Amino acid sequence: MNSVTKTSGANPSAAHLRVVSDRAAGTPGIALSGVSKTYRTRDGEVPSLRPLDFHINTGEFFVVVGPSGCGKSTLLAILGLLDSPTSGTYTLNGHSVANLNLKDRARIRNREIGFIFQAFNLIGDLTVYENVELPLTYRGEAAADRKKAAMEALEKVGMSHRTKHYPSQLSGGQQQRVAVARALAGKPSVLLADEPTGNLDSINGEAVMSLLQELHRGGATICMVTHDQRYASCAQRSIHMLDGRIANVKIGAAATTHA
Ligand SMILES: Nc1ncnc2c1ncn2[C@@H]1O[C@H](COP(=O)(O)OP(=O)(O)OP(=O)(O)O)[C@@H](O)[C@H]1O
Ligand SMILES: [Mg+2]
Repeated sequence: MNSVTKTSGANPSAAHLRVVSDRAAGTPGIALSGVSKTYRTRDGEVPSLRPLDFHINTGEFFVVVGPSGCGKSTLLAILGLLDSPTSGTYTLNGHSVANLNLKDRARIRNREIGFIFQAFNLIGDLTVYENVELPLTYRGEAAADRKKAAMEALEKVGMSHRTKHYPSQLSGGQQQRVAVARALAGKPSVLLADEPTGNLDSINGEAVMSLLQELHRGGATICMVTHDQRYASCAQRSIHMLDGRIANVKIGAAATTHA
């Protein structure tokens, strides 16, 4: 599929948007159709994502930008099967996954998806090593394989000397590096990264970006949320979100369409 059509269903005034994707990219590993998310709270409904249609090709480096509260983390949570959409369909590697039960979602997540969270989400009473090893344990990998993969990932992020420390004993940037190691250790086919450089100084930020690019060169699909224009330029395509909608799409460096 070489094109995706975005229809801003929740906003009748918005123009229909046709986006021609990078011809070099191949099959859509991720395809969303009419995906929306509304949170129900005591104070009423909070629309977080308006119906979205787009795809991310297998092996594509895709970036999501936009102001605080526009729905970036919500979108990543849905892509990472941590949350279900209120409506719409989500196809991951050819399988419909929008409405799977918790167990099946967890199984696919463990096998396919690495997640770097905006707020690290390290487990406070596990050590650095145990945090990185945990997803591999869920996958049922043998102890020796877990150790090799976890130590390799910790070495890559420069944290192999802190394996026995707990997250509370690390700086924010170090915790982020451990979170990156945890995501990389399972060699995911899809990596979802929510502001992976947001808490890092420029040297560590560059180091994390190099790791993501290395994973990408190895064939992984990357979807990264970032506020940092320097890193957004790594993308083959990027979307700019506004109020839960796609407001603008860029292919490479050039903006192509506006809604
Ligand atoms: N669990 C929740 N319950 C109710 N509303 C929520 C919940 N999670 C997110 N929201 C709302 O959904 C909207 C989108 O939130 P989201 O976290 O996706 O934004 P974001 O683009 O990631 O912002 P930031 O750049 O600050 O991280 C916001 O209005 C937020 O208040
Ligand atoms: Mg967010």
